[in-house]
Amino acid sequence: MKTLKKVELHLHLEGAAPPGFIRAKAAEKHQDISRIFDAKGAYSYRDFNGFLRVYEAASSVLTSPRDYAGLLAEVLAECAEQGAIYVELFVSPEFCGGGDLSAWRDYLAAMDEVAQAARRDGIDSRAVLTAIRHFGPERARKTAICAAETGGGWVAGFGIAGAEDAGRLPDFAWGFDCAREAGLGLTAHAGEWGGPDQIRDALSLGVSRIGHGISAVHDPALLRDLAERQITLELCPGSNVALGIVPGWAAHPIARLADAGLRVTVSTDDPPFFHTTLCHEYQMLADAFGWAEDEFRQMNLWAVDAAFCDGDTKAALR
Ligand code: ADE
Ligand code: ZN
Repeated sequence: MKTLKKVELHLHLEGAAPPGFIRAKAAEKHQDISRIFDAKGAYSYRDFNGFLRVYEAASSVLTSPRDYAGLLAEVLAECAEQGAIYVELFVSPEFCGGGDLSAWRDYLAAMDEVAQAARRDGIDSRAVLTAIRHFGPERARKTAICAAETGGGWVAGFGIAGAEDAGRLPDFAWGFDCAREAGLGLTAHAGEWGGPDQIRDALSLGVSRIGHGISAVHDPALLRDLAERQITLELCPGSNVALGIVPGWAAHPIARLADAGLRVTVSTDDPPFFHTTLCHEYQMLADAFGWAEDEFRQMNLWAVDAAFCDGDTKAALR
């Protein structure tokens, strides 16, 4: 699986932080976050809300542009190791600089340097600035401003993650409008935990991609609509299995979504939290559905089509 060239559209930068990296940062800053690790040193949580709390505690030790630059370098090196040639990273200015534009510019400058060096080494990337739904629309507005003001280079998109039961997506329309006017690509986590209506709400914001979107499988009219509009699903099967949203790999709706004519792609979401890697995702799908290189190549072509980078970059990725 490592030799297959892969394009990953849905990878949270903080969520990709190896536990050892976070432990080292915590030690450096004399912060005690030992409660978020199990006896083996892995991230430990019981359910999705617990996961979000552990995620936020881990992110709390990343307090400087240098921390984020170091994290990005490690994460991109691991992506390259997994055979990825292009990755879109969900980065939250609400964690890097607290939503302040001037602080965000400093974080971005440090990460941009790392991203350009990694590109020269064969792994290209873009950032999707990501609001956190349970932090509310006011903070999301600041993230959208960071995205709109710094978009065009490494920053190529705007999106929203977090708890789907917090508020309604239309409450975040201002941020999506602002990012669209700035020429950024749009995506939203929807239909991971929530039902088809969450996905319809995401479509009303003008997104071209949906993060997860697995509940669409229960709604034939929505499936037709998603297929007709050529909306791309950023599927993260290992994440859904680890969080208990689906009972196992063979039960994951990815094959049914593909059969319904949807553009399905494969990503890892937050790999160390879910004990997965990009190669592991592909291998488990190959085992569960009998898929081989042809199927995966098609998914990667859809991922390139849906990527938020420019046309020349896409042509090079194909
Ligand atoms: N943030 C990081 N991972 C997430 C997920 N799977 N769902 C919602 N928000 C997230
Ligand atoms: Zn996600």
